[in-house]
Amino acid sequence: MVDILAIDGPSGSGKSTVAKRLASELGFNYLDTGATYRAFAYLAFYAADDLDDIEELLDLLDGFDLEYSDGKVYVNRKDVSEKIRSENISQVASKIAQIKELRSYLVRWQQEWVEFNGSSVVEGRDTTTVVFPNARLKIFLTADDKVRSLRRSLEINKDVDSVQKNILERDSRDSNRAESPLMVATNAVVLDSTNKQIDEIVEEILKLWKSSNP
Ligand code: DC
Repeated sequence: MVDILAIDGPSGSGKSTVAKRLASELGFNYLDTGATYRAFAYLAFYAADDLDDIEELLDLLDGFDLEYSDGKVYVNRKDVSEKIRSENISQVASKIAQIKELRSYLVRWQQEWVEFNGSSVVEGRDTTTVVFPNARLKIFLTADDKVRSLRRSLEINKDVDSVQKNILERDSRDSNRAESPLMVATNAVVLDSTNKQIDEIVEEILKLWKSSNP
C-alpha cells in the first residue's frame, strides 16, 4: 500500500525542512512539488521569448524532461537543483503556476512519481487539496509572515525587507489565483510554527501520523 503524508502551506513556513525530516523518520520518499514548478520556470526563463505568452510556454512542455531523484532536480538531464532556488526563478515559478494546463501536467507527473516510488512525504501548495486529497494525513503548516521572511532571508543570505516584500507578493498571487489557490483542505490539521522549533513540529506530526488511520 502507498502511504502519503501531505504538507501544504505558504513559503517560509518550514514545510521543506519538516517534510525532509519526516521522510527520514518514516523511511519514506520525499517529494518537493515546488521543485517541479521551479524546474519548468527554469526552462521557461531561459527558453521562452515572452513569459506572458501561455501558448509559447505550453509548447515548451514538448521538450521538458523532468527527473527528481534523491532530492535532486534534473531538467533535460542537467542538474538544476541549486539554480532553481534563485529569487528570479521563485518569481517566475509563482507566475507560471497560475497556468491551468501546466498545473494539470505537473499534478499528473507528481501523482505518477509517488505511484512509481511508493510511500512518500509530499510537500507543496495544493498537495492536500488537489494532488493527494485522500492522503492518510494532511497538514497545513503556517507561520507569521515576519518569521517566514526572516527564515528565508537567512537561508538565501538576503536582506529581510526585500525578502518579506517578495514573500508577501508570492503569498498574495498563490492565494488569490483562480487555479488551485493556497488554502486549507478539508480534514487538514493546521499547525503554526511561529514560536516552535522544527523538532517540536516534527514530533507533533509524528504523533498525528501514528494515530491516523492507514
Ligand atoms: O514551495 P516553493 O516556494 O518552492 O514553490 C515555488 C512556486 O511554485 C510557488 O510560488 C507556487 C508554486 N507551487 C504551486 O503552485 N503548487 C505546488 N504544489 C508547489 C508550488
